[in-house]
Amino acid sequence: MSQTIVLTGANRGLGLELARVFAGRGDTVIAGCRNPADAADLHAITPHVHAIDLGDEASIGAFVTAVGDRPVDAVINNAAIDARNLGAADGERDVLVQPYDHFMGEINVNTWGPLALVRGLLPHLTASGNGRIVNVSSQVGSMEIGATMGRDLGYSVSKAALNMVTVKLAMRLRDQGVTAIALHPGYMNTAMGGANAPMQPSEAAASIADVVDALTIADTGTFKRWDGTTHPW
Ligand SMILES: NC(=O)c1ccc[n+]([C@@H]2O[C@H](COP(=O)([O-])OP(=O)(O)OC[C@H]3O[C@@H](n4cnc5c(N)ncnc54)[C@H](OP(=O)(O)O)[C@@H]3O)[C@@H](O)[C@H]2O)c1
Repeated sequence: MSQTIVLTGANRGLGLELARVFAGRGDTVIAGCRNPADAADLHAITPHVHAIDLGDEASIGAFVTAVGDRPVDAVINNAAIDARNLGAADGERDVLVQPYDHFMGEINVNTWGPLALVRGLLPHLTASGNGRIVNVSSQVGSMEIGATMGRDLGYSVSKAALNMVTVKLAMRLRDQGVTAIALHPGYMNTAMGGANAPMQPSEAAASIADVVDALTIADTGTFKRWDGTTHPW
């Protein structure tokens, strides 16, 4: 059955490939990106492209208004930044040196923005009957993995915090039949992952779409990998 999917950061990287996979299967993709005027590839995939800046609550509110009254089956919080997007040089991201503005900027976009979007779209998700929240996290947001890798303090902390937001949403929304998971999408060849990453975002997107389809309330509060296996917290 055709679904309605809301997706952020849909103009490039994993988000663009997710839009391609869902739209290609006949789902309605409501795509958010910062600059719709510069998103030609995305416009070729879906007619529903709206502006959203996850670092700006007014912009998130305007996006929710643009979604309209329709039920939403899945919200995929994909958009994110690392400190390089805020102008950090490689050596400026470490736990001993990262400046306050970069740390808080990452929290704002990667943690608070996704939560604000979910709050705005909650009526749409409950109206679905099988509403699903997929918070795209990272392996470096895992305490176990983050203890061994991840050079960007604010990025790791923002994804660990997103994981906590996810379990809080799961606990709060279980009775309303809305499922919330955190998802590590894999190490992908995108602007963020870099050219040496082993997986193409198209490969990850195909796999993630299958995971999104199969989610039920029994999965709520879990942390999964792109292939549906369980990720350690
Ligand atoms: N690539 C990896 O190896 C990897 C590994 C683990 C987790 N992840 C996660 O996977 C997701 C997708 O990453 P990716 O590799 O596709 O990254 P990417 O290629 O850097 O794309 C990031 C996307 O987020 C958007 N974005 C950035 N700041 C935004 C804001 N303030 N408001 C709205 N949109 C914003 C970007 O839009 P603009 O074009 O406007 O900047 C872009 O569409 C992210 O959550 C990332 O943390 C990636």
